[in-house]
Amino acid sequence: MSLKEELTALKEEALKKISEISSSESLERIRVEFLGKKGKLKNILKTLGKLEPEQRKEIGKLANSIKEFIEEKLKEKEKQLKEKTLQEKLEKERLDITLPSFWHDIGASHPVMSTLVEISEIFLSMGFSIEEGPEVEYEEYNFDMLNIPKDHPARDMQDTFFLNNGMLLRTHTSPVQIRTMLKNKPPIAIIAPGRVYRKDADPTHSPMFHQIEGLMVDKDITFKDLKGILKIFLENIFGKDIPIRFRPSYFPFTEPSAEVDIGCTVCGGKGCRVCKETGWLEILGCGMVDPNVFEAVGIDPDEYSGFAFGLGIERIAMLRYQITDIRILFENNMRFNQQFKGIR
Ligand code: DAH
Repeated sequence: MSLKEELTALKEEALKKISEISSSESLERIRVEFLGKKGKLKNILKTLGKLEPEQRKEIGKLANSIKEFIEEKLKEKEKQLKEKTLQEKLEKERLDITLPSFWHDIGASHPVMSTLVEISEIFLSMGFSIEEGPEVEYEEYNFDMLNIPKDHPARDMQDTFFLNNGMLLRTHTSPVQIRTMLKNKPPIAIIAPGRVYRKDADPTHSPMFHQIEGLMVDKDITFKDLKGILKIFLENIFGKDIPIRFRPSYFPFTEPSAEVDIGCTVCGGKGCRVCKETGWLEILGCGMVDPNVFEAVGIDPDEYSGFAFGLGIERIAMLRYQITDIRILFENNMRFNQQFKGIR
């Protein structure tokens, strides 16, 4: 084989091997194999000295161009390899930006809270203000001064959580009436929302629930005022066409007393399971403040009169949102609460 043929064969061989390279290590190996000090090209050119000057020049030129060619191809390959490694790395370390990131969900108002706020706003708009009282209450304020006698069943160990120190967890928000009247002179127009406690637990009763108490005391307050205020309140909550009825009842702290029913919001008054086939839903208790209560707080019942009412917030929330089991309100399940996002 002539030198020229050898060089051409070398070029072909190098081209083939370079095309098969798959890593930077083999690239280095091939470079040494062909272009190194003891490489194939040098080896072929060993005999260059024996050639005629003319030929030497020609072969030298050819050898040089082959060297440059191989270098060029190696460079190309190196670039390809780098590109490939980068591509693989990008693939491997890929960030999936479509995955949800760590974000803080926007909360939803709990249905009991939004109902409480809505009821409060209706009364605030009519000039009532908000009073608060403690959940740990004196027996006197929770019972005695509200004209609830010592032998009344509500004071029974069954219903009331009594505490070791002689106090109790208030069983209703009515003691806030007492606290307000001890503190302020009439005219009084307050509502008192808050937590109350009873030993009671079933689908419609929870040992802790929320009530709103209302109290209005001034000269010449009559049952008509009570009816008018409660009508405005109920129409605002349940809609202008809601049927309302006052039913005579009894509470120790009011005389006369009434319970207020609304037409069943589930069946529209026809009778169903929710209204126990009566067509009516009991919604609150109310009445004219009993003279005994006025006397207990030092207000002259001959000079002043007033009305009071009390209602359970959970019951209203359940009717508004068609919730049938009160216990779900207290499970603090985010998926339940989130359903009320944006609802007021
Ligand atoms: N305190 C009563 C209860 O817990 C509700 C109530 C009824 C409050 C009549 C009142 C009222 O102020 O006049 O069942």
